[in-house]
Amino acid sequence: MMRFTSVLLTLFLFLLLHQGSSPKATAATHPDIVDETCRRIADDDPNVNYTFCTQALRSVSKSKRADLRGLAIISLKLAKANATHAKSRVKALLKEKQLSTYRKSCLQTCRELYSDAASSFRNSVKQIKSGRYADAKVYISSAVDAPGECEDSFQEGDITSPLTKVNYDLFQLAVIALAITSRLG
Ligand SMILES: *[C@@H]1O[C@H](CO)[C@@H](O)[C@H](O)[C@H]1NC(C)=O
Ligand SMILES: *[C@@H]1O[C@H](CO)[C@@H](O)[C@H](O)[C@H]1NC(C)=O
Repeated sequence: MMRFTSVLLTLFLFLLLHQGSSPKATAATHPDIVDETCRRIADDDPNVNYTFCTQALRSVSKSKRADLRGLAIISLKLAKANATHAKSRVKALLKEKQLSTYRKSCLQTCRELYSDAASSFRNSVKQIKSGRYADAKVYISSAVDAPGECEDSFQEGDITSPLTKVNYDLFQLAVIALAITSRLG
């Protein structure tokens, strides 16, 4: 009995000491969840930009301690915020003077696409929180095409899109969220 206790005590001391000194070493030898997840989804989907993925997820400090489900929710919240941000960019562009009718109609199309995308992302978070991953994927899939459709509207009229960067960011966040959600149960 005495012996068992001292083994436990030694083990406890060992763990205690290790805990204080090892997180950095562990992080260096094992890729963290953000890195690992971004690497996997970038390997599976050529649309996913690994660098963008790690930068976007690391912008939220909670990612470090999140599980895959947590990361899915974080990526969707980023996507939702980004769609809302994109919508306000468009609103500002719509205030420009001397907008051509064509450019104006493109911007209006994009505003609507961003708005729908934002609510799809919001709905998908609710679905994930209640464990309905397949439904979440349906919502996210409906938003993935929004940035491309916005870009296309300008291209069809042969005018330069003022939203290319905005659309790239939104597309990345949408495909990242979709890829992570697809890996949930
Ligand atoms: C990937 O994302 C990074 C960071 O946002 C960006 O600098 C880079 O240009 C992107 N790569 C491609 C191929 O678009
Ligand atoms: C969201 O979009 C804006 C521009 O549309 C961009 O500057 C910002 O970096 C994006 N946020 C994330 C988390 O990618």
